[in-house]
Amino acid sequence: MSDEKVYRVQPAWKKNALIDNDTYLKWYADSIKNPDKFWGKHGKRIDWFKPFTKVKNASFTGKVSIKWFEDGVTNVSYNCIDRHLKKRGDQTAIIWEGDNPYDDKKITYNELHERVCRLANVLKKHGVKKGDRVTIYMPMIPEAAYAMLACTRIGAIHSVVFGGFSPDALAGRIVDCESTFVITADEGLRGGKAVPLKENTDKAIDIAGRQGVIVKNVLVVRRTAGKIAWFANRDRWYHEETASVKPDCKPEKMKAEDPLFILYTSGSTGKPKGVLHTTGGYLVYASMTHQYVFDYHDGDVYWCTADVGWVTGHSYILYGPLANGATTLMFEGVPNYPSASRFWDVVDKHQVNIFYTAPTAIRALMGAGDDHVKKTSRKSLRVLGSVGEPINPEAWEWYFNVVGEKKIPIVDTWWQTETGGILITPLPGATDLKPGSATRPFFGVVPQLVDNEGKVLEGAADGNLCITESWPGQMRTVYGDHERFIQTYFSNYKGKYFTGDGCRRDADGYFWITGRVDDVINVSGHRMGTAEVESALVSHDKVSEAAVVGYPHDIKGQGIYSYVTLMAGVEATEDLRKELVAHVRKEIGPIASPDKIQFAPGLPKTRSGKIMRRILRKIAEDDFGSLGDTSTLADPAVVDDLIEHRQNKK
Ligand code: PRX
Repeated sequence: MSDEKVYRVQPAWKKNALIDNDTYLKWYADSIKNPDKFWGKHGKRIDWFKPFTKVKNASFTGKVSIKWFEDGVTNVSYNCIDRHLKKRGDQTAIIWEGDNPYDDKKITYNELHERVCRLANVLKKHGVKKGDRVTIYMPMIPEAAYAMLACTRIGAIHSVVFGGFSPDALAGRIVDCESTFVITADEGLRGGKAVPLKENTDKAIDIAGRQGVIVKNVLVVRRTAGKIAWFANRDRWYHEETASVKPDCKPEKMKAEDPLFILYTSGSTGKPKGVLHTTGGYLVYASMTHQYVFDYHDGDVYWCTADVGWVTGHSYILYGPLANGATTLMFEGVPNYPSASRFWDVVDKHQVNIFYTAPTAIRALMGAGDDHVKKTSRKSLRVLGSVGEPINPEAWEWYFNVVGEKKIPIVDTWWQTETGGILITPLPGATDLKPGSATRPFFGVVPQLVDNEGKVLEGAADGNLCITESWPGQMRTVYGDHERFIQTYFSNYKGKYFTGDGCRRDADGYFWITGRVDDVINVSGHRMGTAEVESALVSHDKVSEAAVVGYPHDIKGQGIYSYVTLMAGVEATEDLRKELVAHVRKEIGPIASPDKIQFAPGLPKTRSGKIMRRILRKIAEDDFGSLGDTSTLADPAVVDDLIEHRQNKK
């Protein structure tokens, strides 16, 4: 192993591990040599009503078509619930831990079955059919899981929208997939504060209605019993509706390639894209990665701290674990409420064995001090995971040394909304670890580095990360816009899926993700298109132009740095700065709040009018010495002005 710090697999990690290094190497080689045989075998890990005879049928050129197990017939909710009932009907499927530490409950597989069936029957009663889109805008409560599974039971396509998004953002997502049924709650609860979900939904439905999409039904879970508006023709209480229908519902027969869900994600241009995942391949991949990446053994208690509004929540709170008959913990709250010990208190309380979180949380807790960790036991822990953004080696070391007390492997899992499941990751019993590296590809995954011209880079190299072969969990299209799918992912480098990430491969073949190479920034593990924040800023009537870039942020990984040019005659004041931040929060949601706003009389542009973001990024990073070539700028003096303003601010 080369220069970097290496943590070898410890004997205890290997002892009962599902995969050791020899198995990894053999399975990986098999998966590449003969994908049909490999995935034909592992495709059977889920139950099929009608077995598949075809395995892989994918092309990354021309019209781009991706199909897996295409003649098989199955159902996701059947696989996540029904097939476990005989053996583990009374086993806990979901442990729910509320925002308030005294609030928790356990839901068995039998109970999960009944709740999902009842809700599925409510959906049916109101006319929701196979292929219809249902929007889910929920806090982290078990009903969010029931809602997703109920959709899959009847073949409806769910679109979960993160509860932190604004009414405008929710409306955009409702309109894009023409969804006429919304499931929400009166309010969410996070860190002791109420989130007005129903009120936001009401506003979003108004906006969507003006754009021609009329939401006919809103099902409302009573979470806080806070005051909400009520529209008798449209709104219904979840508890009333589910009480008056039958407790069982036959799972719909779904073809492997029938759509399962849409999840909107930000790209470098335009509106968020509706990433579409389908039924069979997604579930095979989510369940297989969940089992092997986390070395999940029967009886383990597994906790992923993500929100179900993100892909991590879809694949690794819900579908992967439940398909494996696991006990999965769902947490409503935040890492620092009521104290910075909360994560570890919950670990002890529920005897969590596998814990999966994001670097931003690790960094924040690291900042709160070791005492919050040390006063807890954490003896139950066996595997730690990280996801969402590059983990800096300092945070990795802290996670390893302080949280894991040097005894627990960390799986740094690299993947994307588009990939459906983890693509590059260590396996706990197989992979020597290097802090900051996502290490090696999962079975069937073929990463490739290319330079900007598309030349393939071999050996140790730094380049753009592509994947050359399809894997079952891959997204199939952008909902309603296949051309955009081809353009976004398959046009930069012909015949390859381009991830948008930069990456280094070291001499040991380990992959180190260096971050996005496009105009996407990663704020606290949340993906944000700079174009989205810019269009929110320019929609304010005092703003004439805006350019947004990411800059390094101690806790968030990246912060949002906005350069704003005001309309002629408008004065740049502190109040206006606050007003603009509030405006972006209203347009997109709190996760898009600009961390810094620099008022700029002009922005650096090429003679053809293109904003030179490279320069803006450097200025935001205070890296004035290496601005590169500025000679192509229409007005080079603009740059001096920006630097001067930036320096004066300090
Ligand atoms: O830049 C990569 C980063 O997050 C992006 C994907 O974001 P999203 O679709 O929101 O999914 C996040 C959860 C899977 C990637 O393009 N990213 C994700 N995981 C890692 C990462 N960067 C480095 N290391 C990771 N482990």
